Amino acid sequence: MPYSSFIDLSVFQAKQIQGIFSTADLIKANSTPSAISNSKNKVGALVFFESSTRTRMSFEIASVKEGYYPILFEGGSKTSLEKGETLEDTILNIAAMEPEYIVIRCGDGLNLKELALKINIPIINAGWGVIEHPTQALLDIYTILQQRQNIASEKILIVGDVKHSRVAHSHFKLAKVLGYELAVCAPGAMLDKQREVKVFETLKQGLDWATVVMALRVQHERHKETIPLEEYKNQFALTKKNLQGTKSDLLIMHPGPVNHGVEMDTDIFFDTRSLILKQVTSGVYIRRAIIRNIMGGAL
Ligand code: CP
Repeated sequence: MPYSSFIDLSVFQAKQIQGIFSTADLIKANSTPSAISNSKNKVGALVFFESSTRTRMSFEIASVKEGYYPILFEGGSKTSLEKGETLEDTILNIAAMEPEYIVIRCGDGLNLKELALKINIPIINAGWGVIEHPTQALLDIYTILQQRQNIASEKILIVGDVKHSRVAHSHFKLAKVLGYELAVCAPGAMLDKQREVKVFETLKQGLDWATVVMALRVQHERHKETIPLEEYKNQFALTKKNLQGTKSDLLIMHPGPVNHGVEMDTDIFFDTRSLILKQVTSGVYIRRAIIRNIMGGAL
């Protein structure tokens, strides 16, 4: 079996990413059955040390539809983590049971790149601390491409908790591979010290520039200081008031989960320009395509 992992977007070339999008298109059009759809007794291990709804369920669905039985390890009670076993030992032991691939969601404490050197089974990053969430960035771009022809012509404004966002950090890398423009807008406490992209001081300036706006969840749990929410909402939230006068074809996105009334109001979630639930639908196509391309040796 060819061996590859999907952890860090900066190691991929545009043609490999386009290959994933092409496979997702074929899956979406239902024009090719899974190459392995008749395989029996093939297992994908899904290891989620952190909570998840979208990523976990879409990997479960993607695994089933690609012909792999998903075995889920949630890392809570009744596992040997309770006895002090390390996260790395846990993964090494799961790998020793020889699943076809391992999907991992974990915090910053586990080094997925080093782990990938220790096991001979593909690892798929399903959200790694604040470091990367590559499958989310891909499904975001795939969703935009359902509406637009050329991603290199798009200007994506990411608003909010950039510093703690693995999604934003994956977009910083993917934008370099695919050539789309990226900018951020957030209070200083939510910006990275090393700024790799353009920063807009006000939401209005950013929205005047953008063709796509993506709000991020305010990650209260990762902030030491309390966020002044009313002030945040006035200046940075996607609300009817703040979006007044924006382009009629502005695309509105959010990777989820949404804090309604904090970074986005419910009427914006349901705005006709909102792609939020379409992002979730794309997640299954993209994760199926990644599994298929990795297992088929195309990555
Ligand atoms: N976007 C995302 O990763 O959502 P979950 O945490 O629910 O998987």
